[in-house]
Amino acid sequence: MSKETLTIRDNRTGQEMVLPIQQGTSGPPVVDITKLYKNFGLFTFDPGFRATASCESKITFIDGDQGILLYRGYPIDQLAEKSTFLEVCYLLMHGELPNQNQFDDYVKLVTEHTMLHEQILNFYRGYRRDAHPMAIMVGVVGALSAFYHDSLDVHDPRHREISAFRLIAKIPTIAAASYKYSIGQPFVYPRNDLSYSENFLHMLFSGPCQEYTVSPAMARAMDIIMILHADHEQNASTSTVRLAGSSLANPFAAISAGIGALWGPAHGGANEAVLNMLHQIGDEDNIGAFVKRAKDPNDPFRLMGFGHRVYKNYDPRAKVLQKAAYDVLEEVGRHDDPLLKIAQKLEKIALEDDYFVKRKLYPNVDFYSGIILSAMGLPTSMFTVIFAVSRTIGWISQWMEMISQEGQAIGRPRQLYTGTAQRDYIPLDKRA
Ligand code: CMC
Repeated sequence: MSKETLTIRDNRTGQEMVLPIQQGTSGPPVVDITKLYKNFGLFTFDPGFRATASCESKITFIDGDQGILLYRGYPIDQLAEKSTFLEVCYLLMHGELPNQNQFDDYVKLVTEHTMLHEQILNFYRGYRRDAHPMAIMVGVVGALSAFYHDSLDVHDPRHREISAFRLIAKIPTIAAASYKYSIGQPFVYPRNDLSYSENFLHMLFSGPCQEYTVSPAMARAMDIIMILHADHEQNASTSTVRLAGSSLANPFAAISAGIGALWGPAHGGANEAVLNMLHQIGDEDNIGAFVKRAKDPNDPFRLMGFGHRVYKNYDPRAKVLQKAAYDVLEEVGRHDDPLLKIAQKLEKIALEDDYFVKRKLYPNVDFYSGIILSAMGLPTSMFTVIFAVSRTIGWISQWMEMISQEGQAIGRPRQLYTGTAQRDYIPLDKRA
């Protein structure tokens, strides 16, 4: 038992409860309530998990007040500037940065497993052409479990590792195929001579008649976007992956559930919503009216790309992306892009507005990512898909950590029941 404790008193009975307090490496201490029900017959109530640490993790740390995000201790801005996506994948999965040999082996393994079983491509043809690519992602990723029976024993560390590699290697191929299908083009096979990001862009934009020339600036921008989205501690989709995986479901099923959770506009779907909102604003003169709507408590409209459950400061990822947005627009010769102008002005107005200042609503990662992805030539429906490709490493790393933790148990929250108390069944002919 930890030495630090919290004593609380139940005023109904006068009973005092001593609860242990645990301190992590960083972040607020947590009150350990695991024995609260057993010893005192009480549940805690925290819908939305605003004050609940749902697990112990060594992967990612966020200080929302300071605007800090660390992967395995390394600040996100340093990784975005100096690292590559696959190096970050290694770091998240293994806990340390690789040496050259370890990195070469890792890259080789991922690169050589990028192809999909040809049979998987048949799945796509069952979808309507106008299906949202996230709908296809949910289905196809879940379907991977039908192809890899050889490695679905979640208690076997080697099986877990094989599944992790398969997911990291194949997720860009699955995503690119969902895009190609939606625009009626043939699937493009991966190329092993390209880097992870280059290959992803190649599969998205090459066609049978013309090979896409991947510009280093675009590949770097894609790498940065993927690094920034790679993990974000216990967000809605990651918690979904952990909860689904806690029942010992296979990792493809668990990650498919995570993709579903990511889809919502309050989470990964926000980047799509930001671009739609910027288009709706259409002109700098209309910004005031949209800001007014966002502040109206009777209007459900919110400024997309603003606010965050954890960051009560500038999202450190948004800072990196703001610069990347300039670089990409410069590269494609659209430095005076009207959407970027609207975004910049909107950001300035909101940052000076009392409503946003008081509530600590700052731009989040989604505010600029849509502008970059759109400049790359991707439609808005693909934005959340890019997020899912990037986050797969975070999901799988968190899943591996959970499954291998001592005392791992199925996640089973309780509730505050406010429905009707027990009553007797009344036959139909006796009911009023
Ligand atoms: N525009 C206007 N008002 C807002 C916004 C916004 N974007 N976000 C929060 N508020 C207000 C909200 O109305 C509330 O006001 P009041 O106290 O007067 O009732 C106050 O700020 C606190 O909001 P909340 O809903 O309690 O905050 P939350 O932590 O539950 O929600 C959020 C966080 C991200 C869902 C929310 O800020 C939001 O809906 N933002 C827009 C969508 C968005 O950009 N989502 C992407 C999140 S980052 C990507 C990711 O990590 O997944």
